Formats: sequence, C-alpha cells, structure tokens
Amino acid sequence: MKILVINGSPKGDNSNTYKLTKAFLTGMRESAEAVKEAFETEELQLSRMHIRPCLGCFSCWNKTPGSCCIQDDMQQVISKLLWADITIWSFPLYYYTVPGGLKNLIDRQLPMLLPFMVENEARPGNGSHPARYDMSGKRTVVISTCGFYTAEGNYDGVYSLFDHICGKDGYTSIFCGQGELFRVPELAQRTDEYLGYVKEAGSEYGAGGISPETGEKLNQLLYPREVFERWADLSWGIDRQNGEKESDALVFTRQMAVLYRKESYSGREQVLEMYYTDIDECYQIVMGKEGSRVVTDGSVTATTRIETPLSVWRSIAAGEIRGDEALMKQLYRVKGDFSLMLRWDDYFGGPGGRRGEAGSGSKAAGGIHIPPGETNMSIMLIPWTAFWIAMGMNDTAGSLIGIGACLLVPLLFYRNKKTLYDILSGTLVGGFALAALLGAPVRIILPLSYLAFGIMWTVTCLGKIPLTAHYSMNQYNGEDALLNPLFMKTNRILTLLWGILYLLTPVWTYYLMGTRIKPFVGALNSVAPVFMGIFTVWFQRWYPMKVARGKLN
Ligand SMILES: Cc1cc2nc3c(=O)[nH]c(=O)nc-3n(C[C@H](O)[C@H](O)[C@H](O)COP(=O)(O)O)c2cc1C
Repeated sequence: MKILVINGSPKGDNSNTYKLTKAFLTGMRESAEAVKEAFETEELQLSRMHIRPCLGCFSCWNKTPGSCCIQDDMQQVISKLLWADITIWSFPLYYYTVPGGLKNLIDRQLPMLLPFMVENEARPGNGSHPARYDMSGKRTVVISTCGFYTAEGNYDGVYSLFDHICGKDGYTSIFCGQGELFRVPELAQRTDEYLGYVKEAGSEYGAGGISPETGEKLNQLLYPREVFERWADLSWGIDRQNGEKESDALVFTRQMAVLYRKESYSGREQVLEMYYTDIDECYQIVMGKEGSRVVTDGSVTATTRIETPLSVWRSIAAGEIRGDEALMKQLYRVKGDFSLMLRWDDYFGGPGGRRGEAGSGSKAAGGIHIPPGETNMSIMLIPWTAFWIAMGMNDTAGSLIGIGACLLVPLLFYRNKKTLYDILSGTLVGGFALAALLGAPVRIILPLSYLAFGIMWTVTCLGKIPLTAHYSMNQYNGEDALLNPLFMKTNRILTLLWGILYLLTPVWTYYLMGTRIKPFVGALNSVAPVFMGIFTVWFQRWYPMKVARGKLN
C-alpha cells in the first residue's frame, strides 16, 4: 500500500490537522502490519514547496500535452499522485474552503486531465474532463480541522469541491471543529482521546472502512459549545469590556474555571482560591450547581486554598509534572478542605467521563460475567481471620475451617482481580491448617502463622509497591494511584505499621495459648487490628493533608 500525504497547512509540521493525519496514518500502518502488507508513505509539506498559481494558458492541453509550462515543485506532486494508491489531503479550513496554497495545487492538476468534454459518471449532469492517466482503484482521504466549535455546516465548500473531484461517495472524510485545541497541552486529556479515535479510524480504514461507531465518536464535539467558546474567547488574553490585555494568571484561572463540570456538584458550593505566590495575585473560583465564576476581589471565603507559583501550576495543567508529585515535593501547598484535591478529575477532568464507570463490573451481551477488575482485601484476609479465630477454639475444627476458607478464595476471584498476596495467603493458611490437622502443635502453628502474616506485610515495604497499595488504589484512581508518591508513601507507612503489629503478635499469642484463655486468643487478637483499622482510616486522610499544608505549618 502506497500512501501520499499532502499537508496543505501553512503551519507545516505545526498544523493541528496534521496531528489527526499522523494518528490516522499510525492506525493504517498498524492494520497493514497486522496482515503483513507492505506500507510505504510519502509526505509533501506544501509550506516548504514552491507551487505557483495556474496561468490558465491551457498549454498543458495543447502545446505540451500533459506538461505544465511552469517549472516548479508541481511536477513532483503529480508524479507522487500517480505513484500513490491512497492520497490523504490534510488541511485547515480557510474561509469555508481549502487554503489558497492548496487550491493552487489542486488547480495545477490540470495536466493530469485530457481536454475533452465528457459526462462525470460520479456526478452526472455537470460535465467533466477524462483522466489522462489510469487513476482507477486509487482512493482519497480528506482530513481537516476548523476553528469554529463544529465542523457541521462549515464544510459545504469542501464537500462540494471533493464531491466534484472524486464523486459523492468517492472519498473518506474526517472534519473536526475546535481544531486549535489540539495545540493546548492543558486539554490533552480530551484531544488525545479524540486522536485515539482518529487512529482507530485509520486502522479500520486500512482494514476495509471506518465503522459507524468510530464515525460517531469522530462526530462528537471535543467540548460542548459554551465551554469551547468561553475557553477560546479567553485564550486571546483580552478583556471583553475594554479590549485591554489581561493578567496571564487571571486568564489562566478563568480557563480553569471554564472546565469546571457542574455535574460534579455534590450539594455544597465550593470556593477554590488560587494564590500565585510568584506574582502575588489571588483569584477565587466559585464552583456551584449552575457552573463556575471567577471572583477577583477576594470577596468570598475560600473552602480550599492552593498556594503555588503560576509556573508550577501551568506545568501541572500542561501535564509536564504530575500534580501529586509536585505536592509531595512541596512545590505548592493546599490549605482547607483537601477533598477537592482528591476529586480534582471529577471537577475539572473534561467531558471524557469519570473514572470507574468501566470498573464497576458489567454483564456483556449473552450474560457473560466480566470481572470488575478491582482487587479486594477481604479475599486476602478471610482465610487468615477464619483460621485464627477457629483455631483457638478447637484444633481440628479450626484446621478444617482454615482449609475450607482457603478453598473458598478461588471462588471470590470470580468478582475480583487477584493479587499475589491473595494467592500467598490461601497457600500459607492452607499449609498451617494442614500441619495442625496432621498433629503439629497448635501453640507453635498459631504464632508461626501470625509471624508469616507479619513478614508478608513488612517485606513488601522494601519492594516497589507496599501491600496495602494493591488494595487501597481502588479508591484513588486505580493503578494511576501507584504513580502518586504521596499515596505510595502513605501506604508504605501503613503497611509497615501493620507488619510490625503482626510481627509482635506471635509473642503474646505463644504465651496466651498456654493459658486458660486459649479459646479466645483469636478473638482477642482481633482487638488491636480494630483500633489499627480506625487509625488507618484517619491516617489516610490526615497524612496527605499534613504534607499538602507544607513545611511551614
Ligand atoms: C485565514 C484563516 C481563515 C480561516 N477560516 C476559517 C473558517 O472559515 N471556518 C473555521 O471554522 N475556521 C477557520 N479558520 C481556523 C482554522 O481552520 C483552524 O485554526 C485550524 O484548526 C487550523 O488548522 P492547522 O493548524 O492545521 O492549519 C481560519 C483560519 C485562518 C488563519
């Protein structure tokens, strides 16, 4: 497959549209590689070429048939057009049609036609000229972005042009509004999502044709009209009333406020105060039921205050630094209600939807159960707890209950993602229970089991992911949480504390097992973990808040 890309944007490599075209090409390449088809591409950057306007002399038809009298880069374009199986036309919308430079190139294709008058089979009734060369089997893709919020209604001129050239159904098009957003790093979450669909479209096109589902996703607006237009108007940095230049920080804060998703409103108006420490400017975003507004005179009381250099917050917004990492490094600090930070993606995450919708587990068509893909700490704890409580009461019954609980574990994987520690726990408890059943002394087995549990926890503190993180990540952005240094540090501390508790438990367990309270040892040993559980819940909130408040507090 030989693909020619003609990039008609005057911005060359910097073109918004070209980003879509590259994503489409990547998809096409992947689909060709999947079936081991040869894949060759050639790209022509119009911004670097010299193509003069057609002189209208018709010498390419009469004096020198097939050759233009102007000697410039157009000869190269024609030879590439003849070479390619698929030509991708990539360009911005200018005044409801193609940019002037590209129109010159299109006009200069005249030598590729013969002068005679024939019926246009693809568009009867208009008249046309036959092709000088055999162009049968060649395909055309047209990719374009425009500046208005939607492509709908803005591309009439382009449709008309390509309908005449290729025939109404003779080409595939991707037209996308809000094109300037593809160069805004702060919005990459949404634009990358869209580029993913374009890539998918490329892959499907390579395999036969773009599916209606992908076509539907490509037709979705990047952002709702009012969000986009407010954002776009602000991006000029000019005050709407007096036309004066506005402060960068104010524009930036206003753009942040535009992205507020009112669906995330949870019954309480919140006021996010942004204090830019390097330029000593402070603005407040009031986040309410109906939307957001920016207050510039500090007249409302903040619920959450972020103190940050503007440059730091810009880097975070542009995805150059992770927000949680910057917080951990104390590049900024947070005062007041920290829960806003934990739900940041819900409030400002763009229209792509909240995390977790796909993770809630569902039934596919035909009733097949799809595991929700979340880990569950109970799976790991059930065998241990059952074994410990039952073992103190009755040796044989305890062993059997321990083995039974281990056998239950694989059934629980039906709904949850398993971890190494779930499997290890099942195996260890099974081993201890079997040893007790075969006559090993319970006074030794029980403390040993606590020791094994304690070692399992403590050892993970030395590794990359502390044990509790495998489970608590479900409440904090899933596996993304594992990249969050603050989350990891909190979990490392907690895992260590739990590990130490269980490394000490065998000591008193051994003594208590020799006393009359032996039947209650399991239950008694559950008291400390209850307090530890309460402490864990508190610590998980308190520690990140303490770090967020910064060194000075
Ligand atoms: C001279 C000029 C004319 C434009 N005309 C339109 C237009 O008619 N409709 C529209 O929606 N956007 C229009 N735009 C906006 C561009 O189509 C938009 O910014 C596009 O994403 C630029 O793509 P590029 O980066 O690939 O060149 C125009 C831009 C310029 C510079």
